[in-house]
Amino acid sequence: MAHDDHWDELTERSRQRRGRRGRRRQPEMSEDEVKDLAHERRETDAFLAGLEDGGSGYRWMKEDRYRRMFRDIEDKLQGVLGAGPFEWVDRRVFDQVFDRLTLMSVYKLMSDGVVDTLDHPIARGKEAHVFHGTTMDGDAVAVKIFHTSNAVFKNLVQYIEGDPRFGGLKRRHRDLVDIWVRKEHRNLERLRKWGLSVPAALGVQRNVLVMEYIGDASAPARKLREVEVEDAETVYVALLEFLAVAWQKARLVHGDFSPYNILWHNNAPVVIDVGQAVIDSHPKSREFLVRDVTRLVEWGQRQGLDVEVADALVDVLEMPLDHVEEV
Ligand SMILES: Nc1ncnc2c1ncn2[C@@H]1O[C@H](COP(=O)(O)OP(=O)(O)O)[C@@H](O)[C@H]1O
Ligand SMILES: [Mg+2]
Repeated sequence: MAHDDHWDELTERSRQRRGRRGRRRQPEMSEDEVKDLAHERRETDAFLAGLEDGGSGYRWMKEDRYRRMFRDIEDKLQGVLGAGPFEWVDRRVFDQVFDRLTLMSVYKLMSDGVVDTLDHPIARGKEAHVFHGTTMDGDAVAVKIFHTSNAVFKNLVQYIEGDPRFGGLKRRHRDLVDIWVRKEHRNLERLRKWGLSVPAALGVQRNVLVMEYIGDASAPARKLREVEVEDAETVYVALLEFLAVAWQKARLVHGDFSPYNILWHNNAPVVIDVGQAVIDSHPKSREFLVRDVTRLVEWGQRQGLDVEVADALVDVLEMPLDHVEEV
């Protein structure tokens, strides 16, 4: 870990290396890269200014700030680096997930008291890694960290690179990810407001979302897809009502309502992964709603229930919900 002397040793080594390469010509940066770099610098400055009390005098402290920040955070990221029970996060994955701005975001969430430590990874997906974290009070939280670059995106780059309309591509992509994460946070709050069973949203900073952890000390809750429920009828009705309240009250359509995105916790379903949920005025909201209902009905049928899509859809649209109030 980067304790003081180790840090000094590393930076010294780097300085020596740089000295040796000093005369080599720097490769030219493209206009986009220059824009991205300038944008990154502005963000870093704004971020550091936000950490300082009055905002003044932070400049000369900048390097020191970084140094302390990364030392603090590395101590709190022990589990993530593979010291814990999950060894699969090697240095490469670590670097992929925790780029500079992501580390700063995690640091901000830590200094705001939203989360204290990141303990170990729970799941990795194409778009995000999810980690188990702990608050100062010892409560478990789930920390979903969205990747800010991915293979899909890299494929797209070749089609738009060099097109002047897409200047500062990296920045644009990053901004899109941030918007997406804030959307997931907002959707969680909106569903929760109507008493729906989703994890409580606890905080968001750029591409990092903190929410209530669903599971116990040994493991996160299993997905509905992987469990055998005793009373499928009750679960089916509960999930149908979830869709109905979401549509009629919260005016949201989940959009990816599969048994992979429903956790089974304390003998009841908890719905996750609401980033793609759309409001009812979205042009595709009805199409998504039909798809969500179909997924649920297919699950019900696999459980041996006599259910069908047409009935379920009418239920979702018209189920009387006068008893449901905002909480
Ligand atoms: N709040 C949570 N508590 C416990 N586990 C979670 C939580 N949120 C997500 N997970 C775990 O992380 C996995 C991926 O999360 P999800 O939100 O579905 O992201 P993705 O977009 O990658 O599918 C889930 O299948 C689940 O195992
Ligand atoms: Mg998912």
